[in-house]
Amino acid sequence: MTKAKARLIRFLIFGSLALLASGAYVFFSADETPRTHTHHLNVAGVEIGGPFTLVKHTGETVTDKDFQDTYKLIYFGFTYCPAVCPTELQKMTAALKDLGALQDKITPILISVDPGRDTPEVLREYVDFFHPKLIGLTGTQAQIDTVLKSYKVYAAKVEDEEATDYTMDHSSFIYFMAPDDTLLKIFRTQDTAAYITTEIEKILESREQS
Ligand code: NI
Repeated sequence: MTKAKARLIRFLIFGSLALLASGAYVFFSADETPRTHTHHLNVAGVEIGGPFTLVKHTGETVTDKDFQDTYKLIYFGFTYCPAVCPTELQKMTAALKDLGALQDKITPILISVDPGRDTPEVLREYVDFFHPKLIGLTGTQAQIDTVLKSYKVYAAKVEDEEATDYTMDHSSFIYFMAPDDTLLKIFRTQDTAAYITTEIEKILESREQS
């Protein structure tokens, strides 16, 4: 078993216990979001998204053009993340499942902010935990830097004092994008899966009518 997988299993076990104990789906309130996950984003007048070339968890090279027949839920994170990334991915995939037939219109995507450790092989094992449709994308540092820049994602290596390895400080948002890559909505760490489902339903309904 890889280190990332062991860490994830540990998270899922403790996450389930916390869920039972609190009865709440999200057990990180906004105030308790660890320092390593930023949740301030100013998008006024800012263009989000753009062309990219990345490597899928299956090993094939893909571009933004490969996702232009589908709505997208995009999260930027990394597989070594001990808490917030798996919580957000669970939330994203739970929201997707609750959309019923509408989920066929949407592709969930995880883009790695840690390409040095998140190889396609590592991502493949990781995405399997969350949703059969979840796509993991990684690439060279330069390819990742391009996509981080176009989505205005902050990510930086920080030394983890409790471990020999580093961790990543990164912004934590779920981007809901139209097939043509228009930004439709940004979800934050304090948004619940139920809220995401409801908002997506509303957005899709208004777009189908127009
Ligand atoms: Ni994270």
